[in-house]
Amino acid sequence: MNHLRTGEVINKRRKELGLTQNQLAKALGISFQAVSKWENGTAYPDIGMLPRLAAVLGTTADALLGCSSAMTEYDRRYRTDDYYWGLVPNSICYEAMKALPPVRPYRVLDIGCGEGKDAVFFARCGYAVTAFDKSWEGLEKAKRLAEHNKVDVRFFKADIFDYRPETEYDIIFSSGVLHFLSADMREEFCKSLKAHTADNGINAMNVFVGKPFISPAPDLTEEEERAGLWHSGELSGYYHDWFFHICKEEIFDCSSGGTAHKHCMDTLVAQKRTGGNITHA
Ligand SMILES: C[S@@+](CC[C@H](N)C(=O)[O-])C[C@H]1O[C@@H](n2cnc3c(N)ncnc32)[C@H](O)[C@@H]1O
Repeated sequence: MNHLRTGEVINKRRKELGLTQNQLAKALGISFQAVSKWENGTAYPDIGMLPRLAAVLGTTADALLGCSSAMTEYDRRYRTDDYYWGLVPNSICYEAMKALPPVRPYRVLDIGCGEGKDAVFFARCGYAVTAFDKSWEGLEKAKRLAEHNKVDVRFFKADIFDYRPETEYDIIFSSGVLHFLSADMREEFCKSLKAHTADNGINAMNVFVGKPFISPAPDLTEEEERAGLWHSGELSGYYHDWFFHICKEEIFDCSSGGTAHKHCMDTLVAQKRTGGNITHA
């Protein structure tokens, strides 16, 4: 195991979050000397400390151990000057905006932000945006896009398999990502997003849905194939007690990866409304 690498990851994440060694040590209940030793590579965090350390740093134990430095399929896709998903914001961004206009800097979380087009769009509109993805390449491009547009976005690397929000957001947004979650994780994941949404806040997301008459997309990654598609109505079911601004299912043409194919997608823009139960007919 490469100590320096783990130390570098800790140092980089700590600085990205604007924490001092002392603050990080305090959050972990350890001495700042211990943090200093990790960062200069003279000691290694105890294995029992890794999940807590990863949570405080908003990353994963894998990333701390240097295991997730391997290129993902998306890293390969993003390793070009072009933007794989283009630069036009997803239409759900506008729907989320309609439901919660940026009359003040509402807090947005973009889950699986890819190359950052939607996160940067929200930031340009005046939201306070935090965004993460599993792909380093995507995040680097997203940072460049934010710089180019002269907006601040807090980008970080994390994996939806072990990331859960620790703070509240007004809008939680995710496009084209949640199908990576295995079926047994989806309900718990949505529950956590709902719990970390402010009163009157919005969750705006879409998921790919399986249909027997639609062939798998030609550019499906192994991970996507493994996780499997969602069922019709599964997403809205997890939000049955929220107010729905949009709840729809669509089949559309796509040419990502250069080959024409079709997708079925469920889209939900739902609002957490306090002060009364909501019944959907
Ligand atoms: C279809 S792209 C969508 C990107 C972006 N939301 C957009 O619409 O432009 C899927 C994204 O999910 C990210 N992703 C895949 N698995 C992930 C995981 N386990 N945790 C976090 N992000 C993941 C990929 O790196 C990729 O950027």
